[in-house]
Amino acid sequence: MNFIKQYLVDLITFHRLGKKVHFDEYFRETAKLTTSEIHKTPRRTLIINHFIKLVKAQYYLEIGVRDPKKNFNKIESENKFSVDPGIEFDDNPVDFKMTSDAFFDKLKNNNLKIKSDVKFDVIFIDGLHISNQVEKDILNSLEFLNENGVIILHDCNPPSEFHQREQYNFVNSPAGPFWNGTTWKAFYKFRHYKDLFSICFDSDWGVGIISKKQYPLFNNIKGKIENEFYEFSNLNENRGEHLNLSSFEQWAELIKK
Ligand SMILES: C[S@@+](CC[C@H](N)C(=O)[O-])C[C@H]1O[C@@H](n2cnc3c(N)ncnc32)[C@H](O)[C@@H]1O
Repeated sequence: MNFIKQYLVDLITFHRLGKKVHFDEYFRETAKLTTSEIHKTPRRTLIINHFIKLVKAQYYLEIGVRDPKKNFNKIESENKFSVDPGIEFDDNPVDFKMTSDAFFDKLKNNNLKIKSDVKFDVIFIDGLHISNQVEKDILNSLEFLNENGVIILHDCNPPSEFHQREQYNFVNSPAGPFWNGTTWKAFYKFRHYKDLFSICFDSDWGVGIISKKQYPLFNNIKGKIENEFYEFSNLNENRGEHLNLSSFEQWAELIKK
């Protein structure tokens, strides 16, 4: 009898909770944002290949690869190198099966098949999407970046606070399994570096580009960091300026001239 009673209580609870979630404004609005983002074009691969051509790249590095069929294999560079510890993809067919920190340590100490004087033309950072790790990846990448090279970062423009949650494994938020992590915080911080220039293309969850050379429409933010506690609401209120959010198509047209 107790078993039946418990079963009925569970059923009612599930129904109530399910109904609450189903009609919840946050869930509904966030679902719309997800749908809008996944339909944006172009994807990261096209943008990366565009920069490979623009800077006449000889050396490409990808940090965080997962399944190389999705992006790495489609990159049109003569010399390509990949780094991934293999957390999300068991096969992990990369050149360097290690974290980005271990990779840069070994590179600095000349303990890899590529030499410590290598300069990459394009570095795609798409590894651990937590701001302090992304910051380290950017700083390390800058050391090995050609003067006219670019650092490209995926996931710089999370559409909602739920997409930029810290916990990748938590899929019961209004963003479901979609996750951008806190990469945007590192990108936003580097937007304040006087000697670096950046832009974020409004597609594929925000493709951020950082360079030492000033390409058209690339800029930086003068003065101190306004959003020093990195509150998402501040980003959301002023994404255009905070990220230098731009249309890739318009930028590509401009650069043709
Ligand atoms: C979002 S996936 C990469 C997707 C891929 N770049 C693409 O465009 O399809 C993130 C990858 O980063 C890797 N990763 C996690 N922590 C890392 C770290 N500390 N250093 C380098 N890669 C890391 C994971 O194993 C995972 O394969």
